[in-house]
Amino acid sequence: MCAIVGYVGNADALQIGLDALERMEYRGYDSAGIAVVEPGKIHLEKKEGKLTNLLERIDEVGRENFSGTTCIGHTRWATHGRPNDTNAHPHISFDGKAAIVHNGIIENFATLRAEIESQGIELVSETDSEVAAHLLALAYNEGATKGDFEASALSVLARLEGAFTVLFTHVDAPDRIVAGRRSTPLIVGVGDGENFIGSDVAAFIDRTKNAVELGQDNAVVITPEEYRIYDFQGNEVEGKPFTIDWDLEAAQKDGFDSFMMKEIYEQPAAVRDTLAGHFVDGRVVLDEQRLSDEDLRQVEKVFVVACGSAYHSGLLAKYAIEHWVRVPVEIEVASEFRYRDPVLDRQTLVVAVSQSGETADTLEAVRHAKSQGARVLAVCNTNGSQIPRESDAVLYTHAGPEIGVASTKAFLAQVAANYVVGLALAQARGTKYSDEIATIFDELEALPEKIEKTLELRQQILDLAHELGAVRTMLFLGRHVGYPVACEGALKLKELAYIHAEGFAAGELKHGPIALIEDDLPVVVVVPSPHGRPVLHSKIVSNIQEIRARGAKTIVVAEAGDEAVRPFANYLLEIPQTSTLVQPILSTIPLQFLAADIARECGNDDIDKPRNLAKSVTVE
Ligand code: M6R
Repeated sequence: MCAIVGYVGNADALQIGLDALERMEYRGYDSAGIAVVEPGKIHLEKKEGKLTNLLERIDEVGRENFSGTTCIGHTRWATHGRPNDTNAHPHISFDGKAAIVHNGIIENFATLRAEIESQGIELVSETDSEVAAHLLALAYNEGATKGDFEASALSVLARLEGAFTVLFTHVDAPDRIVAGRRSTPLIVGVGDGENFIGSDVAAFIDRTKNAVELGQDNAVVITPEEYRIYDFQGNEVEGKPFTIDWDLEAAQKDGFDSFMMKEIYEQPAAVRDTLAGHFVDGRVVLDEQRLSDEDLRQVEKVFVVACGSAYHSGLLAKYAIEHWVRVPVEIEVASEFRYRDPVLDRQTLVVAVSQSGETADTLEAVRHAKSQGARVLAVCNTNGSQIPRESDAVLYTHAGPEIGVASTKAFLAQVAANYVVGLALAQARGTKYSDEIATIFDELEALPEKIEKTLELRQQILDLAHELGAVRTMLFLGRHVGYPVACEGALKLKELAYIHAEGFAAGELKHGPIALIEDDLPVVVVVPSPHGRPVLHSKIVSNIQEIRARGAKTIVVAEAGDEAVRPFANYLLEIPQTSTLVQPILSTIPLQFLAADIARECGNDDIDKPRNLAKSVTVE
């Protein structure tokens, strides 16, 4: 949700902190702030709105007034308290000596707030976070940890409940930051004479590729020379070092006008890299496999849990896995999963799909599944994040960093990875012969080229969006695997254009949604291949005629050469031929372009950061 950054070193902390915030703004962008710490002094600035507002404010104040080589910074996605200057982070303690930033939710903040107020201290913001600053000052000024910044910060962390990452600084210890985490991300960047903390590696990717993951309920102290990791009781523990396998360029726009556009064009590579290394010597292999073939053979039921676009990728997995493996698959929105008390046992495989690996709803679903004895396999794009860490097996999608809040390349990579999971199950259980698996793999491996071809629809969709203009509502229809694609297309449009959009199973149309059709209403129809499942094809051609007869403007996504749909399409978007189950990896692409272009027609130019959203949703 929020982005947090911390820097200690010998360079210009303000500039380093602001650069880091800029790279991480996709995580949250309703306000931003930075505190630069030097002996005896905190230079603080924070502003409502996007980071540019903070930058302007800093320029007004004068950058020379932010001297110091330690800083903490934050971009916010509000949970407690409106987005405004006061609620923005960092928060300062009552004595002006401590500054903190926080990501997550401090669940016992009301009790802590009452305790602080009872000591005559006035809290100035509506946030849950501010308590951490005052608690630090109280612990540092009196009692058992008096005068000991590190011990004081640890004592505060031990008192917090909920999910949080908190960074602490104090004017009496200006050469260090103490930070701690529970269930929200915190990565340490290890530099040369400087060290970093970030919500993700984008915080320091320009200065080091050496990083360290912290475990649950761990804290870290960073100084320019070293980092030390502790549990909240102060016992020294180990972190998990890793090397970052992408570079600064991957986190930049590369000549595109938005990250989202750049990421749409990265889809051939995202799918290629995700598949790479998963079919070796005629066998399907996963990445971090702590599940044996015998475990996979024992599976009697599969649940896919995920949110948003990842959930749509799971809907597709259901079609593929049930068809290939003949085992029942349920797909469930992660936020509902654990509250419904699903029937789980050792023979249940839960597949948790998440780009960020941080989504709180999905993480809690994973924990619930594990507590009931189920086995969990994560499909994730972020190395070292919490969801894969807590799962029994992992299949990483290698889409690279996805900055645009609307998921594009990560979604396509998730679909491909989910299919690999299906093939791994089919292999272990013998429901597909090896040559059948090889044929499906060949088809998947042919996709990058077909994705390139599909990207050539760019200009046609730009013109189409321009002709449609600022539409107020749009419907999306699909059958079979076209249905999840319709839902994904509608979600993209809602997120980016802020208009009403709905995805339906085309067969459901007559049971209600057809009442929505009126003259000139744009309706996108995802048409299955006429070759793979001809029965689906002919049914959807009838659906197109039904909506045309009622005045809809049809935007038809169909396989090249599908002449049967041409007479009924106001706009025809042709994608390369491929098999039924694989088609969604192509048919989604025109809908991504369409959403971005209609968003601009509707006046939203900043498609990377749609209002009210954040890239990683680390609160439930
Ligand atoms: O990081 P995750 O894949 O777990 O995120 C899940 C959803 O929050 C995410 O897909 C969201 O729906 C996107 N903004 C969709 O474009």
